[in-house]
Amino acid sequence: MKAAQVRSTFLDFFAERGHERVHSSSLVPADDPTLLFTNAGMVQFKDVFTGHHKRGIPRATTAQKCVRAGGKHNDLDQVGKTARHHTFFEMLGNFSFGDYFKQDAITWAWELLTQVYGIDPDRLVLTVFAGDEHMGVPADDEARTLWQQVSGLPPARILGMPKSENFWMMGETGPMGPCSEIHYYMPGTPAGMPSTDPEHASWEGWVEIWNLVFMQYERRDPGGPLHKLPAPSIDTGAGLERVTSVMQGVSSNYDTDLFTPLLATTADIAGTRYGAAPEADVSMRVIADHARASAFLIADGVFPDKSDKEYVLRRIFRRAVRHGKLLGIEEPFMHRVCARVVDEMKAAYPELAERATVIHEITLEEEKRFRATLDRGLGLLEEEFSRLRAAGDKTVPGDKVFQLYDTFGFPDDLTEIIAGEHGFDLDQAGFNEALDQARARSRQAHNTGAGADELLKSLADELEATRFLGYEHTEADGRVLALAAAGEQAEQAEAGAEVAFVCDQTPFYAESGGQIGDAGEARTGAGARVEIADTKKLAGDVFVHFGRVVEGTLGVGDELRLAVDVDRRDRIRANHSATHLLHLALKRHLGDHVAQKGSLVAPDRLRFDFAHFSPMSVDETRQVEDWVNAEIRANAATGTEVLPFAEAKQRGAVAMFGEKYGEVVRVVTIGNESLEFCGGTHVRRAGDIGLFKIVSEASVAQGVRRVEAVTGVGALDYLRRLEGELGEVGSRLKVAPLEVVGRVEKLQDELRALEREVSGLKAKLAAGGSRDLMSEVQEIAGVKVLAVSTEVDDAKTLRETGDSLRDRLGSGVLVLAGVGADKVTLIAMVTKDLTKRIQAGAVLKAVAEVAGGRGGGRPDMAQGGSKDPAKVPAALERARQYVAETLAD
Ligand code: SER
Repeated sequence: MKAAQVRSTFLDFFAERGHERVHSSSLVPADDPTLLFTNAGMVQFKDVFTGHHKRGIPRATTAQKCVRAGGKHNDLDQVGKTARHHTFFEMLGNFSFGDYFKQDAITWAWELLTQVYGIDPDRLVLTVFAGDEHMGVPADDEARTLWQQVSGLPPARILGMPKSENFWMMGETGPMGPCSEIHYYMPGTPAGMPSTDPEHASWEGWVEIWNLVFMQYERRDPGGPLHKLPAPSIDTGAGLERVTSVMQGVSSNYDTDLFTPLLATTADIAGTRYGAAPEADVSMRVIADHARASAFLIADGVFPDKSDKEYVLRRIFRRAVRHGKLLGIEEPFMHRVCARVVDEMKAAYPELAERATVIHEITLEEEKRFRATLDRGLGLLEEEFSRLRAAGDKTVPGDKVFQLYDTFGFPDDLTEIIAGEHGFDLDQAGFNEALDQARARSRQAHNTGAGADELLKSLADELEATRFLGYEHTEADGRVLALAAAGEQAEQAEAGAEVAFVCDQTPFYAESGGQIGDAGEARTGAGARVEIADTKKLAGDVFVHFGRVVEGTLGVGDELRLAVDVDRRDRIRANHSATHLLHLALKRHLGDHVAQKGSLVAPDRLRFDFAHFSPMSVDETRQVEDWVNAEIRANAATGTEVLPFAEAKQRGAVAMFGEKYGEVVRVVTIGNESLEFCGGTHVRRAGDIGLFKIVSEASVAQGVRRVEAVTGVGALDYLRRLEGELGEVGSRLKVAPLEVVGRVEKLQDELRALEREVSGLKAKLAAGGSRDLMSEVQEIAGVKVLAVSTEVDDAKTLRETGDSLRDRLGSGVLVLAGVGADKVTLIAMVTKDLTKRIQAGAVLKAVAEVAGGRGGGRPDMAQGGSKDPAKVPAALERARQYVAETLAD
């Protein structure tokens, strides 16, 4: 049975039993900032289990893409060495949301494995939870009894296991419960019945193929108590790679058809065969595994970079490249293995085909970059090893690891592996410190705030979330709850003081989601006035106003009238709404791979970063502008709704990567079609945007482009600036602005004609201009000699002049000095009939010596130069003298 069939059989089986087929969610958990990557099938249903969101359907089945590779302690270094460690894998699952429970889950699992897949029951063993007093969760006797009834296996084959094995939790918080695992005994491996004592268990030859979790509890805070779920639920997970290895009767996942094509492609590129040498096989398995993770992550919008998810991908990818080098592959190749992943998996995961170009571009570019520094980095590391050996040291210092990371793009774990191979380890703490320092430096460089961050954080800890009134109002009252002046906590601040303050409520929008904070002013009844320059948000949604007291005294407890600068806010609104339209327009015109990577919404402009790998053409830019402007003119009213997250998602609202969403979310409709999750402030109708104009488009990072644009008043300002420039050019050219191009073309023609004329005149000047150089010919020892200087500074013209003078001489010796402002070009020529008696090279040498320069050449022609125009007359005199001496001999 092919892997594809193992997958579809599973989904069909549960679909026939009333489960909705749900597509795998993204590897980037859209609604869960606590997780780096989706690591199990249940992740997308987390809030359904906890009762936070209702789903229309009580049962679902999925094949979920998963990545387990993040964090410090991961199994990355096991990948390739073992039969079953992977960074990327697929999890098959069936889920019940408060519908069926243990009975059906157990019955169906057994039926599917033994009757549909036809797995021999004698090779299966089952585990159940043995209970945990500390947690207050009893042994799962119900599951044990059910397994006995359903499977008919003897009691000895149903093992009770402790919490470490059979209590599943997604993370420190989230839904959890006791679980039951099904293990399969691989043929051809040593016998050994698993023991219930985990210390002495012999699990060799056994592989866990399916985990049934009986979701019953939820932990809301790390280390906190267990809460009972509203309804007991089911979450199961079967590793597709493992089940497939069982079905295909092979002892390693890598021998299944999920991997063999990738191994074959890699072997092909390396000019070898999988199975020929154990070391090379490890490398090929690493490459096959990492190519899967890379292709799938890139398809979900994660591009290799220096931090977070992006860094995990870079680590994975660069490890694979290094293994390619170990195999002797000297050209970029990962894009070819990733292309094979796309081909093999696109039927089950169509997003791979949609993003094939992005995957190709990103992998090729990333590999090229890494290869460009790999050898230099390895060289540096070798030097470091020698130094350490000489010093009798075993640890690569943290700053070296950081240098490799920062300058050569070596992920720290790659350095660790290479160091390990040479018998060294890393000062990981030192590296982390260097990394933290670098991040702090860059934060500092970007920090424009009032520098009272630490203080404010401590203030904010004691404050409630600020009530935000700015969706409905731009003016409102608030009371000062906390105040800082000149970086110190204060009760009062006098006129002239720089302040940061928090109120119980405010109409000022605090910077978030790319939209910058509001500015404006605040007044007290007692006559104090504060100019507010910016508003920012601290943890716990506490809004801080930054500004300066310009009149009177501001104090804690004061009642304030807070007024947002409405004109500025209106410009921000227009730019924010236009950003949404731009996002959709880019998707429409450049393709679905366009995903938002960041944005900035300011009063004067908007900036939008997105995944795309080539510059936008003029046509594409116009199409995008046209589409956005058509939406603006259609003037639809903006809609905002607050919805449960799942419902918003179901309605197709576009969520951003890396954004944290609460249980209920705000979704905004701009124009007729754009629907996005957004907490920002927007125009009332699309027409309020006025005009949308892109002003620049450029690359900001690998695979990420940036568009800057202006709207409304900003667009008018921009057009006026252009018009002003054009008008200025026109007035200098003395034509109307729209006639500038014609006038410039004419000027260019005139310039070309003048250039031609100048070069003709130069040649004439070199030939002596009005002075006829031929009149200066002398006869020395019966030979015509012409040794003169002329004002010409380019060698080519001088040579041409020399040629014509030589021809006019017919027979003789010619020495020309071309004198420029600070250099002299020297040419000597001797007509062919005389070269036996005197050689141009020798003449020039004699001349150059006196001129303080150098030169040489053939008997009939030699060239040289000096930097000293003052010595020319003496040098020419030397020429005549040299001819006289030589011909006299
Ligand atoms: N959540 C469980 C696991 O990951 C079952 O799906 O093993």
